[in-house]
Amino acid sequence: MLIGIIAIAKNFAIGKDGKLPWHYSSDLKFFKQTTGGNAVVMGHNTWLSLPKRPLPNRLNIVLSRTAQTESEPNVLIMRDMESVLALKNYLACDLFVIGGAKAYESFQNVMDKWIVTEVPIEIEDADTFMRKDFLDGFQLKETIELDDQLAVRFYEK
Ligand SMILES: NC(=O)c1ccc[n+]([C@@H]2O[C@H](COP(=O)([O-])OP(=O)(O)OC[C@H]3O[C@@H](n4cnc5c(N)ncnc54)[C@H](OP(=O)(O)O)[C@@H]3O)[C@@H](O)[C@H]2O)c1
Repeated sequence: MLIGIIAIAKNFAIGKDGKLPWHYSSDLKFFKQTTGGNAVVMGHNTWLSLPKRPLPNRLNIVLSRTAQTESEPNVLIMRDMESVLALKNYLACDLFVIGGAKAYESFQNVMDKWIVTEVPIEIEDADTFMRKDFLDGFQLKETIELDDQLAVRFYEK
């Protein structure tokens, strides 16, 4: 499965100054539990934003056309989406698209599921937003509540 996992504000904001514009430990814990033991793919900006790289206990795939970074244990640098999708066919685990906006956009048409944490605020001065129609064609299957009064919704095609 190719699964998008995202936390998104009410105004579709997802990032500011190369970081998440909020801190919810319950969502970080949920993200770690959900993606742990699987593979994740992210854009180069998100890779650079990680406080600790690579994300442990996951295969980290970093998309970049230009980065000079070398692959290292548990980290693969890939140059285009097609290479990631070719690799995915041989993975015995799920592949989570973990952002940011450019990476989500790249995989939008081939995503099987979305896991969406709804952040109950608006971030007016954010600089990274999702398209308002990114869930078009997906159906809501389940909702769970995290601490911090966060709802997580699971969507499938
Ligand atoms: N709220 C959330 O759930 C969430 C999740 C993740 C990230 N974020 C936030 O989102 C922001 C970053 O998002 P962003 O859109 O600026 O950047 P991004 O998607 O993380 O990275 C963009 C870069 O990744 C590479 N890339 C993306 N798609 C590619 C493709 N199809 N083929 C080859 N390379 C590709 C390119 O790197 P090169 O320019 O090197 O070629 C591109 O410039 C940050 O603020 C971050 O904190 C939020």
